[in-house]
Amino acid sequence: LAERLLTGTRVLLTAGPTRELLDPVRYLGNRSSGRMGYALASALGHLGAQVVLVSGPTALPVPKVAESIQVETALEMRAAVMEQVASCDLFVATAAVADYRPAEPAARKIKKDAEELTLRLVRNPDILAEVAALTPPPFTVGFAAETDEVERHALAKRTAKGLDMIAANRVGGERGGFERDENALTVFWDGGRRDLPMMPKTRLARELAALIAERYLERHVA
Ligand code: C5P
Repeated sequence: LAERLLTGTRVLLTAGPTRELLDPVRYLGNRSSGRMGYALASALGHLGAQVVLVSGPTALPVPKVAESIQVETALEMRAAVMEQVASCDLFVATAAVADYRPAEPAARKIKKDAEELTLRLVRNPDILAEVAALTPPPFTVGFAAETDEVERHALAKRTAKGLDMIAANRVGGERGGFERDENALTVFWDGGRRDLPMMPKTRLARELAALIAERYLERHVA
């Protein structure tokens, strides 16, 4: 039975990578495909949520959501999120936001005259931490991709960013993670955890959406 647990709930979800421009034709990026985020957006929609998707560039078809906003850089993603967040109940950050951006993107194409090129990078804002620090914050769900000591890092991240839930996955191994069709997650919240074993990202997204709905409703419905 497909329960529409999240009917009337507005969800803001970030997905995909960001691209940080070096010059008009080049960027720094990462290997996020956007698959997990898009699958989660669909799964939350199937639970009845009104989903606003803010996505960096991906090769994926846009899922059926209430609103889809396409962005390129971390600063654009942050602006779109801040514009939408006040009207949302739940914020899910699946985006692989670049931690740094070029300090001074060149106005014209950089020519290959020099043998060496040094780039100066500056920190990008942490969108999820900013959202979690709002008063009142929406119910916040973050992701943690870790290569080792997954549990310790995820728990520390949940506390540091002030999140309601965090979904941790091990990356860099044989299976799961970036650019793969399957993944496994361990989800942590205040006083609880659940292991979601290795499975296709579409099914994993449905299980995670159900878990998010469960935790969110327990918190927000009397
Ligand atoms: O600190 P770290 O990048 O590992 O945290 C990952 C989580 O934070 C993810 O949910 C990601 O979407 C979010 N994030 C963000 N803005 C950043 C960096 C990460 O929203 N600049």
